[in-house]
Amino acid sequence: MKTKLIRVNDQHIDASLMREAGNIIKEGGLVAFPTETVYGLGGDALNPLSSEKIYRAKGRPSDNPLIVHIADMDDLGVIVREIPENAEKLAKTFWPGPLTMIFQKSNRVPYETTGGLDTVAVRMPMHPVARELIRAAGGFIAAPSANRSGRPSPTLAKYVTEDMDGRIDMIIDSGDVEIGLESTIVDLTTEEPTILRPGYITKQMLEEVLHEVEEDKTMMRADTGQAPKAPGMKYRHYAPKGDMTLVSGDAGRVAEYINEQIDFFKKQNKKTGVIGTDDNIAVYRADICKSVGKADDEKMIARKLYSVLREMDDEDVEIIYAESFGTSGIGQAIMNRLLKAAGHKVISV
Ligand code: TXA
Ligand code: MG
Repeated sequence: MKTKLIRVNDQHIDASLMREAGNIIKEGGLVAFPTETVYGLGGDALNPLSSEKIYRAKGRPSDNPLIVHIADMDDLGVIVREIPENAEKLAKTFWPGPLTMIFQKSNRVPYETTGGLDTVAVRMPMHPVARELIRAAGGFIAAPSANRSGRPSPTLAKYVTEDMDGRIDMIIDSGDVEIGLESTIVDLTTEEPTILRPGYITKQMLEEVLHEVEEDKTMMRADTGQAPKAPGMKYRHYAPKGDMTLVSGDAGRVAEYINEQIDFFKKQNKKTGVIGTDDNIAVYRADICKSVGKADDEKMIARKLYSVLREMDDEDVEIIYAESFGTSGIGQAIMNRLLKAAGHKVISV
């Protein structure tokens, strides 16, 4: 299959290009598109064949449900059985935006889209190109992140091309994304609203709207003995090819420990990499040293994290050490992704 690459300026959206892209989805094809979180791989959410195609293109296990993207609140009622009051409150505050909510699904949503579940994940993205595309495609786009299964989510169209060229009909390039980590997922089908995946919208922000919000215990720990409630979170998902370890503690000691390890692995002729921050990236002796920005600029770290993980792959780094970060604000989402990338291998020094 030849993948058509188009460029759409999000300030001046070309309506005829959006119609072309929307028609591809309506006809059962796949189009990758930008959202404010990461690039998504879109197909018609109400067409079971489209969802099957998405799984195939990603190489993704088909028990891992897809998020249905909508552009208008009126469309929510089509795909869910009921809209709990809490969901209405959250939608008023955070939609459009980087929040996904889990509902009981209506009969209109095929099990192929929900990975066999009776619930459906729904998000209303904010990115203007995403919104136009959803409308042009008939209102309901199922879209996982547009990476091959197991790779970091794409924050640039070139990463989508790396993973999806020849496997999908079209890629819409609108430059880099704003947030860089996937949406926060909140389950509203349980007694207490529960966060299944941390993101830009934090627990604190949610609790300003709802009374109390629980967290899936498996988000930040590997030793709970439970399976994550979001099926996708059980996979070693954001992982680079190299063997990655997180190091936490006082910045000076972290740098010292990492450099000792780097020296050790270099002697064994391993290609080494360090993921750090501007503050001390210069002190590392690894073959490849990449900064994710200033240590106190969490938003920048979120935006750069996945491209840095991909660069480690591009350089064929075999041993990766990463500094760890604070967990306030979006820091929790950053650490959640890093912990998964490292298979929860953390050294405290
Ligand atoms: O920011 C995002 O959410 C991006 C953009 C493209 O919108 N999408 C995204 O989709 O991250 P994906 O497929 O890579 O991740 C969806 C996550 C998976 O962990 C999946 O298991 C979970 O959402 N999920 C989907 N439907 C669910 C459901 N009904 N119950 C529990 N978890 C669900
Ligand atoms: Mg994903």
